[in-house]
Amino acid sequence: MIDLRSDTKTLPSDAMRVAIANAELGDDVAGEDPTVNELERECATLLGKEAACLVTSGTQGNLTAVYAQTRPGGELVCHEAAHIYSYERGGFAAVCGLLARPLPGKHGALDLDQLCSLLGRRPDIHYQRVSLVCLENTHNACGGTCLNAEQIGAVADAAHEHGARLHIDGARIFNAQVALEVPAAELVAKADTVTFCFSKSLGAPVGSVVCGPADTIERVREARKLFGGALRQAGIIAAGALYALQHNIERLAEDHAHARQIAEVLAASPGINIDLETVQTNIIYFAVHRDDLTAPRLCERLAEYGIRASARDDHNIRFVTHLDISDADTELVCQALQQLLT
Ligand SMILES: Cc1ncc(COP(=O)(O)O)c(C=O)c1O
Repeated sequence: MIDLRSDTKTLPSDAMRVAIANAELGDDVAGEDPTVNELERECATLLGKEAACLVTSGTQGNLTAVYAQTRPGGELVCHEAAHIYSYERGGFAAVCGLLARPLPGKHGALDLDQLCSLLGRRPDIHYQRVSLVCLENTHNACGGTCLNAEQIGAVADAAHEHGARLHIDGARIFNAQVALEVPAAELVAKADTVTFCFSKSLGAPVGSVVCGPADTIERVREARKLFGGALRQAGIIAAGALYALQHNIERLAEDHAHARQIAEVLAASPGINIDLETVQTNIIYFAVHRDDLTAPRLCERLAEYGIRASARDDHNIRFVTHLDISDADTELVCQALQQLLT
């Protein structure tokens, strides 16, 4: 099957499995796993931060980073379609005791005027304080759109000026690096903390990481322990992640080209709504508005061609390209769409 449901569906390659099998291991709770230590050093360097901490998932990375930088009763500002706000079980509220202030913004950017007026509210005994601003890069629900260094820098400056911090949910930060042709470290230079995932577009089976200042990462490590995420011979996870960093970043350009190729077929098809401006990386959102076809029916028809996709409702579908989708698979998807839609 050609699985377009998510880039989390990738399976480790044979070479990655060999790297995992041969990993040098130790007890990471005691800081003794050499492969984890190497991965954490590598991630901190790649993101231009002092330190890094391996965590089990993107959700745990975001939660530990938020926990490490806030106190109960504060406010977390994020985009209204942010993953951390919509798809992480409200962990920042349940565990960290924060209020959320979701803001609108084009392609996942926050409206700077709105953010500044919120941050610059006159101090008043009635108001909670904004503790943390969160950005997402690339922005999943906005279509895998990228935020550039200037956009992130402006938000960071505004947050810092008013005593708040900036966290980036960079689950797919390397897709932004490749699409913008700007090193991830440059993109996040002004952010305090960044989470990114090995188990999405980078193609490893498990793991995410939080990068930031050494003292904050120590608090992340404590939070990871508190949440049950401190693992023993975690080098078997770190080895897959290291392999992914060494082999699977530059190739993301192929996933982006595949997404664009599919998106252009969709854009040329009658009764399909798609905003090509949002197809910047490996994610494609589109809507089916036809009398003869609903989104679930289109997915059923695609299954007949060996293509897996899932509809979000009667009209909307998301496709995600990834390293298990080849040039030939992309060609097949395009042909299937042309046959079904024209
Ligand atoms: C932008 C973004 N952040 C965070 C996550 C959460 O990652 P995980 O599923 O590893 O918890 C996801 C998952 O899809 C995501 O797309």
